[in-house]
Amino acid sequence: MRVVTLAGSPRFPSRSSALLEYVRERLNAQEVEVCHWHLQNFAPEDLIYARFDSPALQTFIEQLKESDGLIVATPVYKAAYAGALKALLDLLPERALEGKVVLPLATGGTVAHMLAVDYALKPVLSALKAQEILYGVFADDTQVLDYQHKPSLTPNLQMRLDNALETFWQALHRREIQAPDFHRPQGIAHA
Ligand SMILES: Cc1cc2nc3c(=O)[nH]c(=O)nc-3n(C[C@H](O)[C@H](O)[C@H](O)COP(=O)(O)O)c2cc1C
Repeated sequence: MRVVTLAGSPRFPSRSSALLEYVRERLNAQEVEVCHWHLQNFAPEDLIYARFDSPALQTFIEQLKESDGLIVATPVYKAAYAGALKALLDLLPERALEGKVVLPLATGGTVAHMLAVDYALKPVLSALKAQEILYGVFADDTQVLDYQHKPSLTPNLQMRLDNALETFWQALHRREIQAPDFHRPQGIAHA
């Protein structure tokens, strides 16, 4: 199994990327190959000026193509997801998420905006032809106890992330069973 994680905050370290770090540790324990990306891997000018030939972008697209799933994390900005993340998503090919299972994660200052992922991010993931977009995890800032050093999350948030990962895991396996040949990336043998 190969999974891409994408930290969509313009800031690093950040609360939303702390969620991803937790998730990555869990995936590594299950011997999932994780390719981690964050916005800082891309030159800001490439995103702002829509440079489709950006080498980092090309590598990202390639790794996405060869993955089984994507876990994307974003902060809530102005009742939606981060604009810098949108600048990156805008540069992806139309069917970039075809056949992929996607798990969205978000952090925000107020639970009043916990649906931002549903009404703002999910339609874009769907436009990129994601096969299955799972119910996401939203954390308000009080649940991320530390993100500057080693990430520390409340037990409740850890439990919700564990549950979401379990669902993600099952969806990845379902996907393999349903259409093994269509979905298997070229050059990657079955485990
Ligand atoms: C420019 C900006 C806009 C924000 N807008 C919202 C908002 O509309 N709703 C909300 O709940 N939190 C909002 N926040 C708070 C962030 O979503 C929250 O602190 C988040 O955890 C930051 O994640 P990060 O550390 O990964 O960037 C905003 C923060 C910033 C810097």
